[in-house]
Amino acid sequence: MIGGWIWGCFPPALFLVVTGATNGISKAYAHELAGRGLNIVLISRDLSKLEHEAKAIERLHGKSTRVIQVDFTGGLEIYEAIAAGLKDLEIGVLINSVGKQYAPGLRKLLDCEDFAK
Ligand SMILES: NC(=O)c1ccc[n+]([C@@H]2O[C@H](COP(=O)([O-])OP(=O)(O)OC[C@H]3O[C@@H](n4cnc5c(N)ncnc54)[C@H](OP(=O)(O)O)[C@@H]3O)[C@@H](O)[C@H]2O)c1
Repeated sequence: MIGGWIWGCFPPALFLVVTGATNGISKAYAHELAGRGLNIVLISRDLSKLEHEAKAIERLHGKSTRVIQVDFTGGLEIYEAIAAGLKDLEIGVLINSVGKQYAPGLRKLLDCEDFAK
């Protein structure tokens, strides 16, 4: 089974869950793995960007999508929304690379303005 997954022969109902799905590394993973046969659950903050990216994946790769809008700087309640959004799906892969790049260069964590989040 795992060998089949590596070579891109995914079961047709299987989903990839990808956090931070509307930009950068996660967006690239979403498109690459949709192209290899996975359906995609996209999770990030901005609903219009989520819907735009979900439509692009359906159009370009012919796979099903679902979007879940959450802000990971929120409290534990966001996980209820995520659990509800994932209910009844067969999840095969998780790409959990939501995040924020602090630029330019290295900084002390305590100097970041929203470090508590
Ligand atoms: N790019 C690199 O070269 C690199 C190298 C090493 C490590 N990383 C790390 O990898 C992670 C992703 O980097 P990236 O360059 O792909 O980032 P990016 O292009 O800025 O994309 C970040 C994604 O995460 C979402 N997001 C950000 N904050 C969120 C929040 N609080 N709740 C929900 N969604 C949120 C954004 O969606 P919205 O638009 O909806 O906010 C967006 O889809 C970061 O932690 C970064 O530090 C990146």
